[in-house]
Amino acid sequence: MPISKQVARYLSKASWIRKLFEEGQQMKREGGGPVYDFSIGNPDLEPPAKFAEALATMAAETTHGRHKYMANVGYPETRRAVAESLSADHDVTFTQDNIVMTVGAGGAINTALKTLIDPGDEVIAVAPYFVEYRFYVENHAGNFVLANAKSSFDLSPEAIEEKITDKTQVVLINNPNNPTGVVYAQKTLDKLGDILRRHSKGRERPIFLIDDAPYRKLVYDMDKCTSAFEAYENTLMGTSHSKDLGIPGERIGFLAISPRCADPARVFEAAAFCNRTLGYVNAPALMQRVVATVQNETIDLDWYRRKRDRLYGELTRMGYSLPYPAGAFYIFPKAPGGDDIAFIEKLKEHRVLVVPGTGFGMPGYFRISYCVNDDLIEGALPAFEAAIKEFKNRAPST
Ligand SMILES: Cc1ncc(COP(=O)(O)O)c(C=O)c1O
Repeated sequence: MPISKQVARYLSKASWIRKLFEEGQQMKREGGGPVYDFSIGNPDLEPPAKFAEALATMAAETTHGRHKYMANVGYPETRRAVAESLSADHDVTFTQDNIVMTVGAGGAINTALKTLIDPGDEVIAVAPYFVEYRFYVENHAGNFVLANAKSSFDLSPEAIEEKITDKTQVVLINNPNNPTGVVYAQKTLDKLGDILRRHSKGRERPIFLIDDAPYRKLVYDMDKCTSAFEAYENTLMGTSHSKDLGIPGERIGFLAISPRCADPARVFEAAAFCNRTLGYVNAPALMQRVVATVQNETIDLDWYRRKRDRLYGELTRMGYSLPYPAGAFYIFPKAPGGDDIAFIEKLKEHRVLVVPGTGFGMPGYFRISYCVNDDLIEGALPAFEAAIKEFKNRAPST
């Protein structure tokens, strides 16, 4: 076998999202009517007009040296623009020396993990979790540890504390959350901050919090999202414009280092090194110049809010039990009957594709990704209603 045993093991447990995506493609090829595909988080929405304008302007520029290598952390003017926008968003003042431009949020999290963990160190994540986290942690020979969220899917600081050992180096959270759509309460984040502060006392290196935040600007009922930076000083945020500008294919994001963390200049220096030696070298040059000019732009939030309201209202009316989806573009209902795999198979018979909670380390639930056209939502509602009725007759809904 030409490939590593570890990767062969990973491949044998192919991701549910990929599997469903491929099944959806197959169903589309075979014909037989529309396929209602809610499996993937790929926004079906064009970026804001200002992004397209900035892209055209930057692409037309011909000044010498625009396509050369740069400092691994990215252009100073882009990092300055990001720092300004972050300072307005949190009760913390950032400078360009706290910002490393990265290849998406995925690149930012890998750079952060490489910066912080030694082989064998433990990284605690919260279930249900974004499927790539385990791979990201194991990329850097870390040990992946899971702590459950509360039943409301808010963060459970107590469950995280139970998992803390001498080996814990990082707690990795995702707010607003994929797959639940839940936004963590500020008081919960504050409590987590207190716990991490207490457990960091007397250690050579404090426990760091990595906040994975690509959905930060996608909140529907509040002026702005709650802040991990305000809760705990040793915090790094990995994020991107994949979702807030709707440009996941462009691979542009950043890692923000709290100026209040232990030795922020050393963390910045290390993150620059890791961004380079992981092979990213630097974030895409053209995109850095573009996003520097559109830090205050966001895709049309009403487009998402409307879909969230419609789906949440209808699913609740039908009798589904689900946490309140205050952000991102996901809804995570309980699978009627309790068996998520059986329930998604039933929906598939109605040509509706959703991802089982099992794929996020939380069996008994399923994820609907609603970054799709209204027609798809309207077309799928009768199927959601028929499926819950069938399962209610078959077994008591839990
Ligand atoms: C929770 C979460 N983190 C990270 C990412 C990766 O984002 P990016 O495409 O910017 O690397 C995603 C993408 O779907 C995500 O949902």
